[in-house]
Amino acid sequence: MKDSSLRSILITGGTGFIGSHTCLKLLEKGYFLYVVDSFINSSPKVLRKLEELFPQGSEKFNQQFNLIEGDIRDSTVIENIFINSINQNRCIEAVIHFAGLKSVEESLLNPSLYWDINVGGSIALVKVLEKYNCRTIVFSSSATVYNSISDSPLSENCEVRPCNPYGETKATVENILRSLYKNKRKDWRVINLRYFNPIGAHSSGVIGEDPIRKTNNLFPYLSKVASGNKEVLKIFGNDWPTFDGTAIRDYIHIMDLADVHCLALEYLLQKEESRFLCLNVGTGKGTSILELLKTYEIVNSCKIPFIYVDRRPGDIAISFAKTELATSILNWKPKFDISDMCRDGWNWQKLNPCGYQ
Ligand code: NAD
Ligand code: UFG
Repeated sequence: MKDSSLRSILITGGTGFIGSHTCLKLLEKGYFLYVVDSFINSSPKVLRKLEELFPQGSEKFNQQFNLIEGDIRDSTVIENIFINSINQNRCIEAVIHFAGLKSVEESLLNPSLYWDINVGGSIALVKVLEKYNCRTIVFSSSATVYNSISDSPLSENCEVRPCNPYGETKATVENILRSLYKNKRKDWRVINLRYFNPIGAHSSGVIGEDPIRKTNNLFPYLSKVASGNKEVLKIFGNDWPTFDGTAIRDYIHIMDLADVHCLALEYLLQKEESRFLCLNVGTGKGTSILELLKTYEIVNSCKIPFIYVDRRPGDIAISFAKTELATSILNWKPKFDISDMCRDGWNWQKLNPCGYQ
């Protein structure tokens, strides 16, 4: 197998939350990265932060990390990246496709934007990939693709029937990739990673989660309350059928998730034959909101005021993953627990109260 230091990878959405942490891992492994991002939900400042964290210094960083501002829906942007990589004798061999919008709530208000960016963007991307014979892709899917009635642990065989436009766009991209694989069987190597709830930050606190668009995820909000940036955490429902009445999710440390991307990429690059896999990425452990909140308070010696309010429409009581498939195929196990996630998330929040500003 080729050494990873000789491999060039295209990363879409690589300055976002999951993308930036994954880029750091890939850089450390010696990959040469072409990163395209429109900055619709991230900051170009991530570039200097990754440089700061890169152990081998600026010169090596600048050789390995190529950031291009552009929209994946614009095929000339992606084509130019491929042409440059060929001219530099660094043919792109695979793609990790993070770029997309991710708010369930926003997708309900503006579904056409979600279809345009998440599905239109993916179609534009794969057309260019076909043209340049790059048919190895790791795609950011989501646990939202499952129906809302299957019992946890959710396995990859559970019914895919999303109940919001965001989830529908993710399921559709999975289907497009499945169709490419089925009909051009010899060519495509695909892994759809169905993430559960990624939280936390790199342990340095230099990179973390800093969305530009409005999100209403629990963990960033909880961190803002802990820092005094927001007054109170509203817990959406204390009458769920769970042991303490609050909803249960499968939280996974962002650095564990970054590792999974490296392993998925290595797995596909090692295979001669085509592949199509959907893999859950979680820890397999459910944590209630109150458990998460209490752990955060204990680990970080802080106080998080909260109130109970009505349930959020569209939420479910319990969601956690069956993780055996990812474990067996990628030989992966999460290293970090909820305490680590709370400690690292708080460190990022403390050091960067205004994010990347
Ligand atoms: P993020 O918003 O931080 O990162 C996405 C990146 O894509 C951003 O940098 C954004 O600027 C970029 N982008 C968006 N549209 C683009 C376009 N048209 N062209 C180029 N760049 C574009 O989100 P994240 O949390 O890092 O998520 C990454 C991927 O994982 C997304 O596809 C998301 O749907 C998926 N996902 C995230 C979660 C989660 O809880 N964070 C869960 C499941 C799936
Ligand atoms: N919650 C609150 N208060 C808040 C925010 C959230 O109580 O201020 C609750 C929610 O009701 C839910 C839990 O905390 O019960 C987790 O909510 P998040 O919004 O953080 O996460 P979700 O499980 O709803 O969804 C997340 C991502 C989706 C992704 C899904 C599965 O937002 O994009 O995980 O991976 F698809």
